[in-house]
Amino acid sequence: MPEFINLQLGWPTPSLFPSEQVLDGASRILQSPKKTASALIYGPDAGYVPLRENIAAWLTESYKPSGGTINADRICVSNGASANLGNILSKFTEPGYTRRIWMIEPSYFLACPIFTDSGFAGCLRGVPEDEEGLDIEFLRAAIESVEAEPDHPTGPKFKTGSRYKKIYKHIIYAVPTFSNPSGKTMSLRRREDLVRLAREFDCLIITDDVYDVLRWPKDPKNPLSSHLGAIPPRIVDVDRTLDGGPSQPWGNAVSNGSFSKIIAPGIRTGWTEATPAFVLSLSELGATRSGGCPTQIAGTFVAEMIGTGRLQSHISDVLIPTYSARYHTMFRAIDEYLVPLGFKVSTGKPYEETTAVVNGHGPAVPGAGGYFTYLTVPADLPVDTGKLAALAMEKYNLKFAFGAMMAVEGDEGSLQRSVGGYGNGIRLCWAWHPEDEIIEGIQRLASLVKEIKQ
Ligand SMILES: Cc1ncc(COP(=O)(O)O)c(C=O)c1O
Repeated sequence: MPEFINLQLGWPTPSLFPSEQVLDGASRILQSPKKTASALIYGPDAGYVPLRENIAAWLTESYKPSGGTINADRICVSNGASANLGNILSKFTEPGYTRRIWMIEPSYFLACPIFTDSGFAGCLRGVPEDEEGLDIEFLRAAIESVEAEPDHPTGPKFKTGSRYKKIYKHIIYAVPTFSNPSGKTMSLRRREDLVRLAREFDCLIITDDVYDVLRWPKDPKNPLSSHLGAIPPRIVDVDRTLDGGPSQPWGNAVSNGSFSKIIAPGIRTGWTEATPAFVLSLSELGATRSGGCPTQIAGTFVAEMIGTGRLQSHISDVLIPTYSARYHTMFRAIDEYLVPLGFKVSTGKPYEETTAVVNGHGPAVPGAGGYFTYLTVPADLPVDTGKLAALAMEKYNLKFAFGAMMAVEGDEGSLQRSVGGYGNGIRLCWAWHPEDEIIEGIQRLASLVKEIKQ
């Protein structure tokens, strides 16, 4: 059997971990008695203040939001996007009053159990993705139909009083930029339509913005040194300014950020960005009041890494060149070995709007980025993608994710739409393997498909 190749795993390669920079951050903290005292005590509810300040400044520089400087009062430190999704749900939802969780499909399937653990089993619903992001008309009709059901409670039953200042009626969950799993980036106009819809129906849009800073030009001819791929403003930025901004202090969008993909998952540090009122309320979770900010010592190391600029250099000098090289290698291999067999790349329209965020590197060129791409398998393939994945493991020691895995848990409609729809897709990740193994993986897939088609 050949060596195992895992194009499913959405993890960063350990050889890219910035261990030296983490060590430098740790030394700066642990060699200073004053900083050590802050690092090893219970953290402030919203997180270590220098980290909040540094994240705010770095986000302002990275996104240049039209709403202006991002201040530290918009930032709450978290122990990663996954845990923080659960925290947001505990503070701002109540099963029964919060009617549905709307998830873009194909979905980031590992988010489903986080919703289920928060009491939303049976309330998860898929919303199809189209070429520009999410099907707004589908979502509007689905929300209207839920709202038309009789006997919705007029208010939350259990989460009331001053601890729960805001409970939303609906949650919309999305990965709008370089999506996991589809690789798509939602257009600006869809983001705006989504924010307007959220305001109309008292929805909170939770976005996992965990891949945005890993971006590069889609066209390999554009040099990295002078261009970053353009992306639209985050939904939280759109909510901040659209039509004069939110009409209530909580806003309708929260951004879940993470250092997992740009430092390492084990650092277990992330952040939330939302309105100051939302952030304050989130930081007052019961467990946080008792135990302090959910990440503390690691957060102090990260604060140093940003403060010295070493994290930013790691992203621009190591991660972006490595991932963009792997991305272009994967696409060359797809073009050479898979497209002739009938595979199609299905990552949506190239994003070319001029209002895109370009991070000071101009001009705006269509961007690629993140970790994943999604391919539609040949129409004449006599097996479904689940079977294809099983055969790839069995015969070629090759693993990849397949469409039916991305259905929204417990939603019959989502399962049905997977058949003949996104279920005909497979997700490939370029973050884990070096370029030669990526090519080898694609070649193995091509060999398998040729055998099956014979
Ligand atoms: C969309 C999305 N959200 C969240 C995560 C996990 O984030 P964290 O490690 O910060 O919990 C991932 C990792 O694969 C992801 O792809």
